Amino acid sequence: MQAYYVTEKGGEIKKGEQPIPEPAKDEIRIKIKAIGLNPFDHKIVNVGPPKWKYPHILGLDVAGVVDAVGSLVTKFAIGDEVCGLCDFTRNGSFAEYVVVKTHCFQKKPSEIDWGYAISLVTGGMTAYRNVVEDMQIEEGKTILVQGGAGGVGSYAIQFAKNCGLKVFTTCSPNSNEFVKKLGADVCIDYHDVDVAKKCLELTEGKGVDYVFECVSLNLVPNDLLCVGKEGVVMTIVGIPEGTESPSENIKLTRSSLIKGHMFDIEEECINVGKSMQSVIDLAIEKKIQTTVTKTMPFDELLEGIELIKTGHSKGKVVITHN
Ligand SMILES: NC(=O)c1ccc[n+]([C@@H]2O[C@H](COP(=O)([O-])OP(=O)(O)OC[C@H]3O[C@@H](n4cnc5c(N)ncnc54)[C@H](OP(=O)(O)O)[C@@H]3O)[C@@H](O)[C@H]2O)c1
Repeated sequence: MQAYYVTEKGGEIKKGEQPIPEPAKDEIRIKIKAIGLNPFDHKIVNVGPPKWKYPHILGLDVAGVVDAVGSLVTKFAIGDEVCGLCDFTRNGSFAEYVVVKTHCFQKKPSEIDWGYAISLVTGGMTAYRNVVEDMQIEEGKTILVQGGAGGVGSYAIQFAKNCGLKVFTTCSPNSNEFVKKLGADVCIDYHDVDVAKKCLELTEGKGVDYVFECVSLNLVPNDLLCVGKEGVVMTIVGIPEGTESPSENIKLTRSSLIKGHMFDIEEECINVGKSMQSVIDLAIEKKIQTTVTKTMPFDELLEGIELIKTGHSKGKVVITHN
């Protein structure tokens, strides 16, 4: 099969022939229809996790049709359409086939297309788990989504809006229309304003109730200045060393969608699978909308990665097989 892989830590991503993988007893093989691109896909190459065996096939998000099933698998059958999160420590989805355990996967309903399904994986699930499940946001409060035009932020806006929050988001002016359509109330152009000052201005000096940080750990110190006395700052991009909450009433937390795979915690992977189902249900109920802005063929995957590397792709960039 054709796949995109690296042959060493920090190496360039190459396209070439790799063997079609065989599922173990507790695994399924997916014939891939769509792949979602994430900044993680290229950033992790320089990390080169110790568990990787080279050549290592990249790719986290996958949607496709089950075409082989291990003898112990009862959750899926051959022919099922599925979507979910691959284990980044093993070969991933930048290929024609991938083999996975089933915890982080659910059936893709026929009502949503392959691209929409893929946008729900890392983009939708990360936003859902943080904004809805972990932050326990309350109706009538205010949230700042840092990076609302990105793959994660574009779903965070939708979940926060659905929960009855007033949503402020940082983005470039050319993304205003996109984020407003998703439910943002106020767009803040981060290029020429002090975001913390703007948040205080917009809240009559009180500060926002929540910040969801999807851009950079370097923004976290400033995020702490955006929130009010009992605010919550949730970051998916880390916390700079030495940065602490200025008060015990302000909560600063970080989270990771790949924790289950990183530390081999089965329970955590099962929970990711549950979140996958929750976002699929919201899509079926039409409570959220797709964030896909660009769909590219498998042959152009490297161009897609270059687009992600700019840090200014909008919503979700999706790769499809014919
Ligand atoms: N911990 C986890 O579980 C987890 C999960 C998923 C992703 N992540 C990480 O979260 C980050 C976001 O992921 P993603 O998929 O949403 O990325 P993405 O789609 O590549 O984000 C691109 C967006 O970032 C916006 N942006 C760039 N600089 C900005 C700034 N200074 N202020 C506000 N917005 C800015 C751009 O908006 P404009 O072009 O409009 O400026 C662009 O639309 C990445 O670092 C990723 O690795 C972590």
